[in-house]
Amino acid sequence: MTVSPLMAKAQAGLFEEPGNSAHYLECHWPKALPLEKLKEALVEALKPIAGAYIAVGFGIDAWLRMQPDYTPEELVSFPQLVGTNGYEMPSTQTDLWFWIHGEDRGDVMDAVLQVQQALKGMLVIKLDISGFKNREARDLTGFVDGTENDKGDERGVTAQIPEGELGAGGSYVLTQKWKHDLAAFNELSVSEQEKVFGRTKQDDIEMSEEEMPEDAHVNRTDVDIDGVSQKIYRRSTPYGGAKDHGLYFVAFACSLARIHIQLERMLGNTEDGLSDALMNFSEAETGAYWFMPAQQDLEELLAS
Ligand code: HEM
Repeated sequence: MTVSPLMAKAQAGLFEEPGNSAHYLECHWPKALPLEKLKEALVEALKPIAGAYIAVGFGIDAWLRMQPDYTPEELVSFPQLVGTNGYEMPSTQTDLWFWIHGEDRGDVMDAVLQVQQALKGMLVIKLDISGFKNREARDLTGFVDGTENDKGDERGVTAQIPEGELGAGGSYVLTQKWKHDLAAFNELSVSEQEKVFGRTKQDDIEMSEEEMPEDAHVNRTDVDIDGVSQKIYRRSTPYGGAKDHGLYFVAFACSLARIHIQLERMLGNTEDGLSDALMNFSEAETGAYWFMPAQQDLEELLAS
């Protein structure tokens, strides 16, 4: 399948990989700040800048304030999710999400400061975190992350809302900050670690059906419904320092249901009741759903 030539263009940078340096801001939009003021500030914040992409997404409440007549059908606030075995995924939904990425940390930081200065005194930054990728895109557990992402035009089909639906060309987005317990994970032998993910560590090869544990991460998240693979497009990066580190998970999808079903399968809210083995070593500390509108829709919105 190829992307329709009519497909509205996504915001700049959605498919620009690898994005070795990244920064994420999750912000609250106070009720007292009028829409017009925010729009003016956003035009400044999102100005093109050398070496970095700045994309913006909106939580449902913010989107209803921005553009109540054009709300993607599936958009909701991230619900707190509770699973079997005591696992939980909290909701820390706020209003605006900025995804800033590029290859050079200096360029990315220039863009972060552009956003921060344009929005100073208006939005309240609730999460402010930088991410990075190493050459082989390995998570801090040492496993390559992103291998099964689509390549080329397929990415548009997976990541963008299809033509004919409200929000076409835009994306549903999930962000979650996952804090790793690497001390516990590194106590496992390499072959035990491989069973957690369902892939080999060094060569990044998927285990055969016979070897694959039911609770392996890729087994929980590789979902097929009526012959349709529920693919999502992941752009997560490791984050952190000595005390707090893990993965800032970012995924884009044409349908929010695709993301949601994967989370429910990770939590064990399924017939088999099995939770993802990964959750023994990493804990979701935040969770939010966003709508990232197509470039033209965003421009029209900010110009209106
Ligand atoms: C601690 C957090 C997480 C870590 C460290 C992690 C890491 C990984 C790794 C290493 C892989 C295998 C290579 C590949 O990317 O294909 C993978 C696959 C995948 N992950 Fe995650 N992941 C995390 C959270 C999530 C979440 C929250 C979701 C869903 C909402 C998810 C969805 C997927 C999907 C769809 C695949 C590909 C499965 C396949 O088709 O084989 N991951 N992840």
